Amino acid sequence: MTTPLTSTSTDTPTSAATPTGAAAQPQTTGRTRATGKEWWRTAVIYQVYPRSFADSNGDGIGDLPGITAHLPALRTLGVDAIWLSPFMTSPQRDAGYDVADYRDVDPIFGTLHDFDRMLGAAHELGLRVIVDLVPNHTSSDHAWFQAALASAEGSEEREHYYFRDGKGENGDEPPNNWESVFGGPAWTRLTDPDGTPGQWYLHLFDSSQPDLNWEDPWVREQFRGILRFWLDRGVDGFRIDVAHGMVKAEGLPDETDAEHGGSMSGAGATLEPDISDEPPSSPFWGQEGGHEIFRDWHTVLAAYDGDRALCGEAWVSPPSRLARYVRPDEMQQTFNFSYLETPWQADALRGVIEDSLEAFGGVGAPSTWVLSNHDVVRHATRLGISEDNPQGHGLGPKTPFRPDAVAGIRRARAATTLMLALPGSAYLYQGEELGLPEVIDLPDSARQDPTWFRTNGERYGRDGCRVPLPWTSDGPANGFNDTGASWLPQPDEWAGLARDVEESDPLSTLSLYRRLLSEREARALGAGELEWVDGLGDDVVAFRNGGVTVVANLGTASVPLPTGLVILSSEPLSGSELPADTAAWLAG
Ligand code: NOJ
Ligand code: CA
Repeated sequence: MTTPLTSTSTDTPTSAATPTGAAAQPQTTGRTRATGKEWWRTAVIYQVYPRSFADSNGDGIGDLPGITAHLPALRTLGVDAIWLSPFMTSPQRDAGYDVADYRDVDPIFGTLHDFDRMLGAAHELGLRVIVDLVPNHTSSDHAWFQAALASAEGSEEREHYYFRDGKGENGDEPPNNWESVFGGPAWTRLTDPDGTPGQWYLHLFDSSQPDLNWEDPWVREQFRGILRFWLDRGVDGFRIDVAHGMVKAEGLPDETDAEHGGSMSGAGATLEPDISDEPPSSPFWGQEGGHEIFRDWHTVLAAYDGDRALCGEAWVSPPSRLARYVRPDEMQQTFNFSYLETPWQADALRGVIEDSLEAFGGVGAPSTWVLSNHDVVRHATRLGISEDNPQGHGLGPKTPFRPDAVAGIRRARAATTLMLALPGSAYLYQGEELGLPEVIDLPDSARQDPTWFRTNGERYGRDGCRVPLPWTSDGPANGFNDTGASWLPQPDEWAGLARDVEESDPLSTLSLYRRLLSEREARALGAGELEWVDGLGDDVVAFRNGGVTVVANLGTASVPLPTGLVILSSEPLSGSELPADTAAWLAG
């Protein structure tokens, strides 16, 4: 439903009385934090990237005790839950998304005991905990893959993965034309013990990440056990890595020309390949057979108390297709990457919000919203880019353009101000609450993303969004640890973005996030309903939710603010105008 609004007057001027900072107190009425039944419908979930969050032992890599020590800061921020990127045993060739033991903690992150302590501390603070499950592939170090290598062609052990003979006279061509998301072919050939070339194995990602064969009932049984292992420890749910890629088309057919390069990179597979409303547009993404697995897992979780939840990482669009992953008997949530990828344009933003609410609502699921994660250029930088920059390419010193940093952070604050007023559940990525930008000038020698290596430096990849957090403006590694070691170097300017600096600045991005989260909770916006507000101009996105009118100006000129008392704004306001790249919440 749409409500026209005349916008010529404001009941209450908006300037000094409406700071974004901590000084203004939120309302205390409304529901309590998202702790009740089906908490995931409205929760704000904060992504912790463990290697870059906080380092307790000074080796330069964040760890579980570091997370435990800093949980109170997340409670103060006002989030409902945390999602931890993988901390399981791993050779770390893809930063932990290459798991060698699903039932243990990698020593660089601590021990299972450290995990239990962290989980207990989070629960005591009222924070739910979601862990990352990586079922599409294992590490090549995993005992299952090692056993497959040591077993004969056609053996049960090889059946757990995709081993195939090569094509061509000597089998020296890959079994099909699929390409790795990280660049190069998706197949690697083995050398048999006698030194002769052997079979090929499939890896949609790095060659150290062989794809599991989900047609094999043995694989399915293993993962039921892994889910129960973590559920028994008390986790509140799982984020499912590459949920859209687990099942492949029967016979592993070649990708057709139309499918190939139909992705953002134009260079083979990427993380967001399925852009069709029709049956899957790719032999390895979005296959129908995957849904059976999620229905099975739904029943595994349902046997536990306390509303455990699955959130799928499925780079599938449009939202109508994505919604298939959250039908009532499948996962509870799925990331909304169509929203993340929407350019800073009013009509596009209105469109994706409308489509998402309709598609998710149509299957009884909450919409989710997200602007940043560990795979994409941070939105404080991304929203300052007008050039084409495919996801996964990242940014580096030789990128032929420089993002507009001033516009980027201003739009990012406005974008988050709008996002956190939307009904449903929202994801935040560590550091965005400090307004951290992408780090562009990392030295080549520091880069670790397999994308960088597999494309010979042609794509920078994702290291720039993974730099360790600044906690304090002075001290070693800006308080990330007490030795100064840091697995990726922090830029000098980050001292000014440290949490302790922002905590005492009412106009900081941290103060804005705190305010947004407390007002969102107090006004129960996650559980609300969106009603569009029209008549404010083509460049304005405006809606009502739960007695709040939200207005975002995505144009280049100021627009008049509609009537109402300003609750908060992404930039300080003066008079009755909403400047460009600014968003505000008004009461009434
Ligand atoms: C998606 C994860 O978010 C990304 O970081 C990882 O590299 C790939 N899946 C492969 O596991
Ligand atoms: Ca450490």
